[in-house]
Amino acid sequence: MSGPAVLVHPHADLLAEAAAARLVTSLIDAQAKRGSAALVLTGGTIGIAVLAALAACPARDAVDWRRVDLWWGDERFLPEGDADRNETQARRALLDRIALDPERVHPMPASDGGDGSDPERAARRYTATLPSAAGRGGEAAFDVCLLGLGPDTHVASLFPGHPAAEERERTAVAVRDSPKPPPIRISLTLPVLCSAREVWLLASGEGKAEAVRLALSGSAPDRVPAASARGRSRTLFLLDRDAAGRLE
Ligand code: 6PG
Repeated sequence: MSGPAVLVHPHADLLAEAAAARLVTSLIDAQAKRGSAALVLTGGTIGIAVLAALAACPARDAVDWRRVDLWWGDERFLPEGDADRNETQARRALLDRIALDPERVHPMPASDGGDGSDPERAARRYTATLPSAAGRGGEAAFDVCLLGLGPDTHVASLFPGHPAAEERERTAVAVRDSPKPPPIRISLTLPVLCSAREVWLLASGEGKAEAVRLALSGSAPDRVPAASARGRSRTLFLLDRDAAGRLE
């Protein structure tokens, strides 16, 4: 399989709009081929900007939203409805504006849910919502997995040098010492993120340029989680010009 494709856009707004348009066609194609589409969402500035751009996209409802299955790559372990939860931000940006089948939307558990504010128990419960192919070989579990990129090269809540970034057995884990606030999170692990047919890494701004360079340099995965975030069939780095500033 060929290496990641790097697509550079003039600025962050155009990056979000182009990624949203690309997502519309990817979801339509998946539904045409397999009858449904499976998408993993990310949090973060550009990750949510893509969802907002998708809500405004003229072709948005060419996707049959009732045949879309949604998961999250990670979540801040906060009470239901907290403004800092990725789910809350995704609902405000897009999900509350489209006709999804609620049975097919799988938010990660909240800290005031039934797990008694135990993120490990919540992570285990989330594992049960994942497709059987998640984290295994063989068929892809998801069509597209969206990932924001941290300045330290983290993806989802898998931070360099943290055990969660090196986890290869479990499918979802608790992260208690996140260097990015809030400190407690739940994250899918790399084998699950990589069980998507396509992984799209999204990055904008000069502050991500070094992380982008490292993620594409083939660095050791335990020190650069984004260097291991690769799709089964295709990996895209969707960047703005500033985030691509340290690439040849
Ligand atoms: C989160 C995100 C995280 C994010 C990156 C990039 O829960 O914080 O899932 O992985 O995507 O940190 O975030 P920014 O685009 O805001 O820099």
